[in-house]
Amino acid sequence: MLPFTLKTFTDSGCCTHLIGCRATHQALLVDPKLGKRASYLDTANKFGLTIVAVLDTHTHADHLSDSLAFLDAGTELLMSAKTTCKRAHRALHDGDEVRVGELSFRVLAVPGHTPDSIALAGHGLVFTGDSLLVGALARADFRGSDPKQLFESVRTKLLTLPDDTVVLPGHGYRDLLFSTIGHEKRHNPDLQHANGASFLRMLGAKAGDGNTPDVELTLQLNVAAKPALPSTPTAAIACCAPSTKLAVGPRPIEKHCEELAALQPLIAHDRCWIDVRDPHEYREAHIPGALSYPLSELGFHLEELRRAGPAVLQCRSGVRSMTAAKTLRYLGVLDEPINLIGGILRWQELGLPTER
Ligand SMILES: [Fe+2]
Repeated sequence: MLPFTLKTFTDSGCCTHLIGCRATHQALLVDPKLGKRASYLDTANKFGLTIVAVLDTHTHADHLSDSLAFLDAGTELLMSAKTTCKRAHRALHDGDEVRVGELSFRVLAVPGHTPDSIALAGHGLVFTGDSLLVGALARADFRGSDPKQLFESVRTKLLTLPDDTVVLPGHGYRDLLFSTIGHEKRHNPDLQHANGASFLRMLGAKAGDGNTPDVELTLQLNVAAKPALPSTPTAAIACCAPSTKLAVGPRPIEKHCEELAALQPLIAHDRCWIDVRDPHEYREAHIPGALSYPLSELGFHLEELRRAGPAVLQCRSGVRSMTAAKTLRYLGVLDEPINLIGGILRWQELGLPTER
């Protein structure tokens, strides 16, 4: 069993990660977004976790951080020692240790997207923030960005981690949620450049080009000590993932409940049925024979899933399982995953069997 519980929240392309220590139930929230606090607290509660610290991997240009609300509630904020953020925070340096209950992570300075970018590595995973994304490097056209430095940070600090390290980025680029260091080393187009200078030539963008008025305002609000934050945050203003297209292939195969229900007794023998919902959802009701592999933790079970062979993926309504299908196919773990349209909601509507 993993020593941690992990939940990744996605919203308008941004990823926030909640990681909790199974032994002590203390948790760290990475890159929280304004307006999502109730959802984070509700999920932490369902997982039996208490958020003891929040960490911003860098000063965000594309969305507002929710660090202020957590600070006001007495939760510690962790940021790079290089940040210009004026909120009270524990300043992290390269090589520092961050403890969450009995979990221990190492801070890696990965400047380039911004000067204050950090990653956090430990227990077979790395939160990369906006440095290494799945299938791309983050944008490097903001004021203070340095594409050559970004390339070198990723090459020297992240690609030197073990190949099976699970990459958990700050953006779900192309609907791909996670990857591994080994896969990115071999397949990430931006990492096939010989050096940072070559990567810079390919980008052709100047630092500062990305600083639109909206980005400037977001940066101002994210570094201010006590800004007047909007009560209803707007959708993401920009995206720190690049606009270049990564080839991810056609949409995975989808099938309706009626079709799969008729086949299910057979499928149970030659196809693995995987439920990617959270553990508490699975406990309430699941399709007979379905195995529980929560979406956020799939990256830690890749070899098991590879051995399991062909799979039907299913969640509540079919959205999370589609993300799982795309990500597992991108990683070469599943060749032809089948996504269940409508998920268990539709399954139950049709009166098909479930078990607790
Ligand atoms: Fe960013």
